[in-house]
Amino acid sequence: MRGRTWRALPLVGGAALALAALGALLLSVGVLSPTHRALATPPEKKRLDPAGWGTDHVGQRIPEYMESGECLFCHRQHVGVTWQTNKHNRTIRDAEPTEPAMIALRAEPALRSFADDVQLIMGDTQAQRFLKRSAAYGKVEMLSPIATFGRARRAKLEATDKPHWDADRFANECAGCHTTAIDPETHAFSALSLDCFTCHGDGPEEHANDAKLMPLAKVRKDSPQVVTSICASCHVRFGKSKASGLPYPTNFVAGDNLFKDFQVDFAKADDSKLNPADRHVLDNVRDVVVNGQESVTCLSCHDVHTGSSKKHRELPVVQSCQMCHDAGTPIKGHKSYDVHSERCKY
Ligand code: HEC
Ligand code: HEC
Ligand code: HEC
Ligand code: HEC
Ligand code: HEC
Ligand code: HEC
Repeated sequence: MRGRTWRALPLVGGAALALAALGALLLSVGVLSPTHRALATPPEKKRLDPAGWGTDHVGQRIPEYMESGECLFCHRQHVGVTWQTNKHNRTIRDAEPTEPAMIALRAEPALRSFADDVQLIMGDTQAQRFLKRSAAYGKVEMLSPIATFGRARRAKLEATDKPHWDADRFANECAGCHTTAIDPETHAFSALSLDCFTCHGDGPEEHANDAKLMPLAKVRKDSPQVVTSICASCHVRFGKSKASGLPYPTNFVAGDNLFKDFQVDFAKADDSKLNPADRHVLDNVRDVVVNGQESVTCLSCHDVHTGSSKKHRELPVVQSCQMCHDAGTPIKGHKSYDVHSERCKY
């Protein structure tokens, strides 16, 4: 008995070794598809403390920062040309009477008088809100009815019962991610919509001679955690600031560790019913700041200034691609999905 076991072991071991070697060979010559490669060797999961590095600006004053007009004076050529149409720049803009949402509002007899007061529109292809400037500095009032757009892309109004202007809601629930540099005391914004500051922070003018001084400059090679903190400061729609209790970060400045103050329910990334738009964001943020997988960030797939995600097609296929694609390689087409958000009320 003993002898047999002794003799059998090296054989089994040898066969396993040979198989492993064959597997490695197949992998290295690419015989197994990328899907198999990813599923066969799941990356090792570290568990990091998301708050375990860096500093933040909680308890400090909003930094003095250079406004987009100044930045674009020098960066007209590469950035200026696309900034006018960039969705970050346009999240809040003047309400043109020809906007479908404005036409829908005017067409409703009970709402026509409200339409006359609307100055600004916030939102994009799923939903839009109507705003007017308030007498208070850095504040806007928000109209209760919401314009939504189905697949047919036609404006439809919701929440039209008891229409009214709300003076506080925008500042307490929305400002942090749709405007720039919010005063932690008053919740007043410094500028409507999203200025360069929201991603590039308070990079100094001297960066013109030493680009390393500017957050997100290529030569600076910001860490995956720093990059992720910047994008997550608005794109994680499941968090709360410890300092303020509000659903957006307190005085976040690019370069900070968002997660020192912003508490996030990462378990939501496992919820297969969560829409792919929010889910792929939360999943990627968790990979970087909790699981220590640093090879893929938002910027591996998104080019913010051109608004393109085309480069994501070149990545190796992994399990998380299935949020938006059917299993199997090569990837063809993509699933269609609607986006709804409790945080943004659409
Ligand atoms: C934590 C940050 C955050 C807060 C707080 C927030 N938003 Fe948003 N909002 C976003 C992000 C990020 C998007 C873009 C999401 C996307 O494209 O998938 C967005 C998109 C929207 C859109 C456009 C949806 C579309 O694609 O057409 C509307 C409208 C909107 N938000 C309204 C609101 C309102 C109203 C509030 C306050 C009640 C609010 N948001 C609070 C981050 C936030
Ligand atoms: C929503 C976030 C965001 C905002 C807002 C933003 N940027 Fe950027 N910017 C980025 C990212 C991300 C990069 C590229 C980093 C990379 O790919 O290495 C970048 C790159 C740049 C570059 C390098 C050249 C290039 O085209 O890659 C310049 C210059 C620049 N930004 C200027 C500006 C200016 C000026 C503004 C305001 C008008 C602005 N950015 C607003 C995120 C942003
Ligand atoms: C006085 C002119 C000037 C102003 C104003 C200015 N920049 Fe720059 N910026 C430069 C120069 C020059 C460089 C270095 C050359 C280069 O790489 O384009 C640079 C580099 C950068 C880079 C790195 C480019 C890269 O390739 O990675 C970013 C990002 C950037 N600036 C963003 C901004 C932002 C955001 C603002 C406003 C807050 C701003 N700049 C204001 C002149 C300026
Ligand atoms: C200060 C808040 C804020 C920050 C920081 C921010 N975003 Fe956004 N982003 C938004 C909002 C709000 C929208 C939706 C605007 C709208 O359509 O009304 C948006 C839209 C987008 C979109 C969809 C529209 C498009 O252009 O394709 C992408 C992709 C995106 N952001 C990526 C990023 C990345 C990557 C970063 C980090 C470099 C980042 N964002 C940083 C708030 C932010
Ligand atoms: C593996 C690639 C990949 C990564 C990583 C990734 N994205 Fe995306 N994201 C995509 C693709 C592809 C789309 C769909 C693009 C389209 O609709 O044109 C998308 C869509 C979006 C949208 C628009 C969603 C909608 O339909 O309303 C936003 C906003 C966004 N991503 C933000 C982010 C942010 C922020 C990060 C980092 C935390 C991130 N993404 C990481 C590939 C990626
Ligand atoms: C948030 C949703 C989303 C995620 C996550 C996503 N994709 Fe996509 N993908 C899309 C959309 C939307 C398109 C079509 C528009 C485009 O190319 O940006 C697309 C297109 C593609 C195409 C071209 C398909 C064709 O018919 O030609 C490839 C290849 C691709 N994705 C690969 C990937 C890989 C690899 C991953 C994972 C690393 C991934 N995608 C993750 C949404 C997504």
